Amino acid sequence: MVNYKDLGLVNTREMFAKAVDGGYAIPAFNFNNMEQLQAIIKACAETKSPVILQVSSGARKYANQTLLRYMAEGAVEYAKELGWEHPQICLHLDHGDTFELCKSCVDFGFSSVMIDGSSLPYEENIALTKKVVEYAHQFDVTVEAELGVLAGVEDDVVAEESHYTKPEEVIDFATRTGCDSLAISIGTSHGAYKFKPEQCTRDPQTGKLVPPPLAFDVLEEVEKKLPGFPIVLHGSSSVPQEYVDIINTHGGNLPDAVGIPEDQLRKAAKSAVCKINIDSDSRLAFTAAVRKVFVEKPGEFDPRKYCGPARDEMTKLYKHKIIEVLGSDGKAE
Ligand code: G3H
Ligand code: 13P
Ligand code: ZN
Repeated sequence: MVNYKDLGLVNTREMFAKAVDGGYAIPAFNFNNMEQLQAIIKACAETKSPVILQVSSGARKYANQTLLRYMAEGAVEYAKELGWEHPQICLHLDHGDTFELCKSCVDFGFSSVMIDGSSLPYEENIALTKKVVEYAHQFDVTVEAELGVLAGVEDDVVAEESHYTKPEEVIDFATRTGCDSLAISIGTSHGAYKFKPEQCTRDPQTGKLVPPPLAFDVLEEVEKKLPGFPIVLHGSSSVPQEYVDIINTHGGNLPDAVGIPEDQLRKAAKSAVCKINIDSDSRLAFTAAVRKVFVEKPGEFDPRKYCGPARDEMTKLYKHKIIEVLGSDGKAE
């Protein structure tokens, strides 16, 4: 048993309270490898932004959970080395699907876990979430839950259509489970294809797809029911067109990839939404940079020569999100 406090990590409680009060959101960035983690920590150290490092089940399988946990511990020291005196770094399990998985992360030094019972019937979601909360809270580990289903692929759960969170359920759910934050469904979804072309309109000038707006009315209803309660948005990548274009002009094929416009995320960040999950944009930044090197320097075979530029591009992306979209810069001096 390792407690996250001994690793220099923090849970989400204070981060979220300050973010809700201050009208900004904490970045929750997924990581699967060293370059991503270096880029996240560098961006956060340079902007003094609190951060949630997210580990998905896929990341655990890809990179090994032990290694990822030690990397997060190393990240705290790396942040200090970069001159960030008091790093506020949370290590979070993304989309935990069983009590056992959440428990193993709590026991292993995670400071926050998500139990995603959103695909379960309502009462089963409550029972599972409550069980995780009761365990995690003994160790001061915070718990994120989810109500409503996001469209697209949520790890192994395929939801063909999104089912917006029902505001009339949130008080009962939050009270009975004791969860610390709640992920809701208001039209975001995972991946680089968040909307089908037929759901979008086309900008007559650029020919690019313009997605439908998020359901801010649902968010407002939720906020009214649970004033000041921390709300989480998954599936919040913007799918920057410049990366999609670089990928498509350098041998890739991402037709009609579309994400959530940043002005909508800016608006969400100012509300009770205090955690915004971004993974796909980092994958796109990485891929665009690597593809560019491969096309421009076909003789290059040193991974540092293409993973290095990919890392720099991700750092730029993370700083942009922190400063221009979430407003979390300067909140962890
Ligand atoms: O929720 C989805 C995250 O982007 C994690 O994705 O399961 O492919 O690691 P993953
Ligand atoms: P994106 O696919 O939009 O980056 O969402 C990531 C996410 O929600 C991780 O839980
Ligand atoms: Zn997610």
